[in-house]
Amino acid sequence: MSNKADGVHETWNSRWTFVMAATGSAVGLGNIWKFPYIAGENGGGAFVLIYLICILVLGIPIMMAEVLMGRWGRSSPVHTMYKLVDEIKAPRIWHGIGWMGVVAGVVILSYYSVIAGWAIHYLLQMASGNINGLDGAGSSEMFAEMLGSPRTLIFYHSLFMVMTMFVVIAGVTKGLGRAVRILMPLLMVLLLVLLTFSIRMGDFPAAVNYLFAVNFSSLTGQSILTALGHAFFTLSLGMGAIMVYGAYMPEHAPIGKTVLTVAGLDTLVALVAGLAIFPIVFANEAIVPSEGPGLLFVSLPIAFGNMPGGIIFGFMFFALVTMAAWSSSISLVEPAVAWFVETKKATRLQAGLAFGLICWLLGLGTVFSFGAWEDIRLLGLNFFEFADFLTANIMLPLGGMVMAIFVGWMMNTNTVRDELDIDNDRIFNAWTFVLRYISPIAILWVTLEGLSDIFGWPWLSLLNLFS
Ligand code: PHE
Repeated sequence: MSNKADGVHETWNSRWTFVMAATGSAVGLGNIWKFPYIAGENGGGAFVLIYLICILVLGIPIMMAEVLMGRWGRSSPVHTMYKLVDEIKAPRIWHGIGWMGVVAGVVILSYYSVIAGWAIHYLLQMASGNINGLDGAGSSEMFAEMLGSPRTLIFYHSLFMVMTMFVVIAGVTKGLGRAVRILMPLLMVLLLVLLTFSIRMGDFPAAVNYLFAVNFSSLTGQSILTALGHAFFTLSLGMGAIMVYGAYMPEHAPIGKTVLTVAGLDTLVALVAGLAIFPIVFANEAIVPSEGPGLLFVSLPIAFGNMPGGIIFGFMFFALVTMAAWSSSISLVEPAVAWFVETKKATRLQAGLAFGLICWLLGLGTVFSFGAWEDIRLLGLNFFEFADFLTANIMLPLGGMVMAIFVGWMMNTNTVRDELDIDNDRIFNAWTFVLRYISPIAILWVTLEGLSDIFGWPWLSLLNLFS
């Protein structure tokens, strides 16, 4: 047996609490806001298929690895990596897994908070009754009006950041967990209400066809990379959020089953969200699938504006989206805050305030990228797009890849087997094989294809080499 690290944090009281917390982290804007809009930007079916394959083949095995590392180390990702590297005498460069996670989390939260702010703004719009009888053009106008007002954006961004820090500062078991248990099922119910509306009033067949009819000709290196990145983003993978939650997981809980549950729920929410949104998109000429980040916000208010009780449903829906974003955002800074607290240089309060401020300031870049800074571009991307691309499409897959290599190649197989608690040799061997060979090769390859496609660097592409 390895000499297990002693934890300085509380542990969850049951496996179920871990499932709820990890689901709370996984299910968020990624499922409801991002998945539909990037599926729309990348042509639908084939993109969705690649995304599902990435979840299954790469996401789930790597999530198991990440939980395992966290539970072994019982501390923040930074210190877990220190302990693991010490234990197996690995080169210090592996500490990078922890550090990169802290950075990725902070950058993601910076724009995540701005988008969550949109949801809060919309929640109030619903309550004000502004949406009665809304059509496509009216809805687009409403969205543009919000984007055109930095004051509005900053106000709600600030509000969301304060909400996030409030829970982060309140601490792990007290703050999280409880609320999620009620809110997540409720969110699912609301999505199903929307789905029924969309089936009856929208163009449902067109939506199904769009999301599930696979046409590979629409795929590019860039869209495959986006699908890969999103698999990591939506599962909160590759930056330590799942590792830090794993650190609070009880000793004897089957990691495999737990991870399957979380990934299954997460995927379900994304697909239902897509099926609820696209029928409305196809039934309204003013909206196109490739609408971009506004897709959710211009499509759903039309549904709410035209259904009986729409104001109430709309209010509840955006409240729940806000909640889902909230339970994700806390996990984005938890690696940073947990690390800071462990160094004993700061209390949770101080760490929370410090990181909250950094994320808030960085978020202003995203706010202005929808307006005044629209044209300030790096590699053709504005601030928001660049932050999203760098984190979701590069840092998270890269983080996942190095975790796979670390657990697959560096850690002692017996320790890993012990920790994972899988009796079935076949499954264990298959999992190890995926971590050792499939994940690193697939992630590296997809990343190179994507970069080659996006930046026009043919020498990076294997496909080009062989064609
Ligand atoms: N998984 C979250 C979502 O889909 C976002 C997230 C990414 C949270 C990475 C934590 C870490 O909205």
